[in-house]
Amino acid sequence: MIQCEEVIFTRKSVRDFKPDPIPDDVLEKMIQAARLAPSFQNRQCWRYILVRDKKIIKDLALNSGLIGKVNFFIKDAPLIVIACADPAKSGTMNKQDYYLIDVAISFQQMMLMAWSLGIGSCWLAAFSESKVKSILNIPSGIRVVGLSPFGFPKTKTKLYTKAVKVFAGSKKRIPEKNNFFHDRWNS
Ligand SMILES: Cc1cc2nc3c(=O)[nH]c(=O)nc-3n(C[C@H](O)[C@H](O)[C@H](O)COP(=O)(O)O)c2cc1C
Repeated sequence: MIQCEEVIFTRKSVRDFKPDPIPDDVLEKMIQAARLAPSFQNRQCWRYILVRDKKIIKDLALNSGLIGKVNFFIKDAPLIVIACADPAKSGTMNKQDYYLIDVAISFQQMMLMAWSLGIGSCWLAAFSESKVKSILNIPSGIRVVGLSPFGFPKTKTKLYTKAVKVFAGSKKRIPEKNNFFHDRWNS
């Protein structure tokens, strides 16, 4: 287990996984980290599906992509977590739907806990919600907010990973002065 500061400063998206399974005690901590997240009126609208069945993982890798086989890289991960929400169990204020925030905080807590224990992950938004729902029998009122593979990172990354990282500019961050203001907007 590493400290919070190190977890946050070293975290990065992982897209290449060893096939080794996630140890049960690690999975348990990931679940508890997600459960302890803050949420709108503490209503905990998140609903998770933890997929370890290899056939279902293959189905998701081949058939969940928003475009073609964009999520093929998740095929080697020993665990795929689907982060869903029951929007009726969250709320709306200032015309903002808080179920997205509830799930995002909770899922990120799961990912940071995983990283602290040597397990990598990668948020995915490039999925077809209808295809994911059909593969996993998710009811119609439930939204799929995100999904992520989890597993021990491979040291050698594939060309695909290198290309995505360059395309996304993953190492870059916008200059702090552009998105952090002090006392007034754009000060
Ligand atoms: C909401 C969200 C959606 C994302 N969707 C994808 C995705 O569909 N495919 C992918 O490879 N990475 C995806 N990413 C990962 C980002 O590309 C990555 O976080 C960003 O490039 C910064 O790199 P880092 O996580 O290594 O710091 C997503 C990240 C977030 C937060």
